[in-house]
Amino acid sequence: MAILGIESTAHTFGVGICQSGRILANQKAMYPIKDKGMIPAQVANFHMKNAAHVIKNAINESGLSTRNIEAIGYTRGPGLGPCLAIGQLVARFLAKRYRLPVMPVNHAIGHIEVTKQAFGIKDPLVLYVSGGNSQILGLVDRPFRHYHVFGETFDIGIGNMLDSFAREAKIIPAWGSEVAKVAMNGKYIELPYTVKGMDFTFTGLLTAATDALRRHSVKDVAYSLQETSFAMLCEATERALLLTKKKDLMLCGGVAQSTRLKEMLQMITKDHGSRFFVSPNELNADNGAMIAVVAEKMFRAGEHYSDKQITIDQRYRPDSVEISW
Ligand code: FE2
Repeated sequence: MAILGIESTAHTFGVGICQSGRILANQKAMYPIKDKGMIPAQVANFHMKNAAHVIKNAINESGLSTRNIEAIGYTRGPGLGPCLAIGQLVARFLAKRYRLPVMPVNHAIGHIEVTKQAFGIKDPLVLYVSGGNSQILGLVDRPFRHYHVFGETFDIGIGNMLDSFAREAKIIPAWGSEVAKVAMNGKYIELPYTVKGMDFTFTGLLTAATDALRRHSVKDVAYSLQETSFAMLCEATERALLLTKKKDLMLCGGVAQSTRLKEMLQMITKDHGSRFFVSPNELNADNGAMIAVVAEKMFRAGEHYSDKQITIDQRYRPDSVEISW
């Protein structure tokens, strides 16, 4: 028997199927972003149009039939309201149609658990970096078992910051990964660096980098923006590593695909004799399999949700979730 998971927080509508933690299918449709970023209502419309065939493709890929599905997981949040609403609607529809229980999953915990499972690691310090989020987390048992947030962005996620810069710099498509290409062999110019303890902010840096485009080449500003923002993440993460004394550092989320960020974190773990893990890119990008993996853990731990609890929450924090497994 298997679990089907639906992911729809932002540009990706993903459906994954897993069985005893093994990913049997991971299918998706991705809203094409050009120069205007994401307009939530349009992305939701895209998800609505693509839901049926992505589900069908996932079932086909798994080699199973709907009879083999035991429960449905969907992303409760955090994310864009209209997009989350489509995932929830599809989960409700499948649950009613096949009389299955529904598990509401936290998106960040999806990224964390799928990576932990991929490497068989139990208790890492996690740097979770994506469009809307940037957090340093780790499991604690008190006052209840949850992923404590040791540090986080006080304003925007690092991914959104890089994407916004790409739009200002007319880099098309406006992705952080394109900023990385432009940044190759750039020269360093000084930009504001803001870390308080294990927290950080990115909007001041974004404003300064946008302003610097009037005086410096796109290449130099892109390079300096990457170096500065990644160094901020590294400083906060290193502090958390020393504080928690955790032996493993794990990087996950969309921005975990950045080669430069991986390199910098690797240097830190080398200095402290700890191990460094980062998921393969297909699991760092938003996907349905990570939701299925967490939904399976919740289901096997005996979690149960009434109809009233099948909701969405755009600001659903990972530290509010009790970890039952
Ligand atoms: Fe994500």
